[in-house]
Formats: sequence, C-alpha cells, structure tokens
Amino acid sequence: MEIIITKSYEEMSQLAAQMISRQLLKKPSSVLGLATGSTPVGTYKQLVRLHKEEGLDFSKVTTFNLDEYLDLAPSHDQSYRYFMDQNLFNHINVDARRVHVPYGHAENVEQFCEWYEAEMRRAGGIDLQILGIGGDGHIAFNEPGSSLGSRTRLKTLTKQTIEDNARFFKHEDEVPRFAITMGVGTIMEAKEIILLANGAKKADIIAEAIEGPITAQVSASVLQMHPHVTVLLDAEAGSKLKRADYYRWVFEEKKRLIPRMIGKMT
Ligand code: GLP
Repeated sequence: MEIIITKSYEEMSQLAAQMISRQLLKKPSSVLGLATGSTPVGTYKQLVRLHKEEGLDFSKVTTFNLDEYLDLAPSHDQSYRYFMDQNLFNHINVDARRVHVPYGHAENVEQFCEWYEAEMRRAGGIDLQILGIGGDGHIAFNEPGSSLGSRTRLKTLTKQTIEDNARFFKHEDEVPRFAITMGVGTIMEAKEIILLANGAKKADIIAEAIEGPITAQVSASVLQMHPHVTVLLDAEAGSKLKRADYYRWVFEEKKRLIPRMIGKMT
C-alpha cells in the first residue's frame, strides 16, 4: 500500500486526477471503476478540466460504477446515475454505450447483478478503481459484515450510512434502505485501486482500515491484501495514522531520491 498524505483536498484531487490521466495515456481503452459521494467530486472536476484544457481523451474508455440505490429513478437528483452525469459524464467525451451504472430499477436484481459482473469480465476487468470510504469503513456499499469474497448484489444499508447520507435528501426517511453494489471480491479484482478520503470525520476509520486488522467488520481493511493500492488522503483524514510521519517521509524520499518514481506518483 502506498499512503500519500497531501496537504489539502485540492492536492489530493489533483493527484488522483493525474493518476487517472496517466492510466488513460498508457491505455486509452482503460476500464475505470468509478465512485460517488462527496469525496471524488474534486477529482472529477480535475478530470473535466484535463479533458477541456489538455484534451484528455475518454472516447475509448469503459466505466463501471460501484453502486446505486435501489428504486431511485436514474433521473432522481440523488441517484448515483444522476450524480455521475452531473459531475463527470456530461462534461467529457465518454461513449454512453460504454458507461455502466447499476440500474436501481432492475426488475430481477439477482439477474441484473450477474449481468453486471459478466459485463465487467467481458470488458477485460477493471484497470483502475476509484474508491471512497464510508464512516463505517464500507467501500461501495459493502457494509460491515460483508463477505470479503462478495460479488455484486443487493445490500441493506446500515443506520449509520442512512444517517450519513441523509444530508443529501430532504428527510432521512427518503434515503433508500437498499442498494445494488459491487462486492468486496469484485473490487479486489481491479488491477489497481485508488482509495480517497478527506476531512477529520474520516480520520478514525482510515486509521482502522489501513493500520488495523483485516476484518469483514471494516470492508476497506481488505485493501491491505491488494497488490497495487494507493491511498490518497488530505491532512485531516491522515491525522490519526500512527505511522503518518513515515508515510510522509517515504513520499518525500521517493520524490527526492528516485526521480523516475515521481512519474508513478504525481
Ligand atoms: C456512499 C457510497 C460510497 C462512498 C461513501 C462515502 O456510501 N456508496 O461509495 O465512498 O458514500 O461518501 P462521501 O465521499 O460523501 O464521504
């Protein structure tokens, strides 16, 4: 795991966008795994800027989103489909036929989930997966207790997640209780993963996920087993890490002593 504690949300977002941009330059037909939530908004802004100002090309890219609320219409302003259109897809040249967001109105959820998994396989698997982290350690909507080998399926949200996400709805009662989500096992098959977290509210759970034991009670902790994860944090989210000084030192040393590695990280 490479842990990079940046100074600010802006720096974190810039770094994430640069890493995605490098991936697209290396492989224009990359398959990207995308996340919603407030955390990646800055990264998507940077990607839109890179597309508009520097011609970053998404025309051959395929995308798969992590999750979607059950029974929210794609046009609902809190659906993840709507979020992705507003924050990214409407502003870049991605081919709509290669954009995948779980369909919250699927009549047969189980069949839909199998199809979603098959589509990911057909696309060759995810090259680079972007993740945020929930207050209870979930990645996508893999709430505590989710099997570390789980696949795309229906999940019931925890009370904490419903409360956390209530800020986006008029009333807590409007927050859906169910979601379709990629599984932990699905996410772990991505070739490379970037986990993003910002703000003091994420400091405790980030410390648990990165420095605590690997447990299904904190889904994000399984990322410790993945061979190619970069954790990008702002200073607040990284503030409870016991080895924060070491991670900062590693980043600085790598930049100073091995200039050719900067390409990988910045
Ligand atoms: C939701 C999403 C997650 C996201 C999390 C954190 O629960 N399903 O993918 O990581 O929210 O949201 P935020 O970035 O707003 O803190």
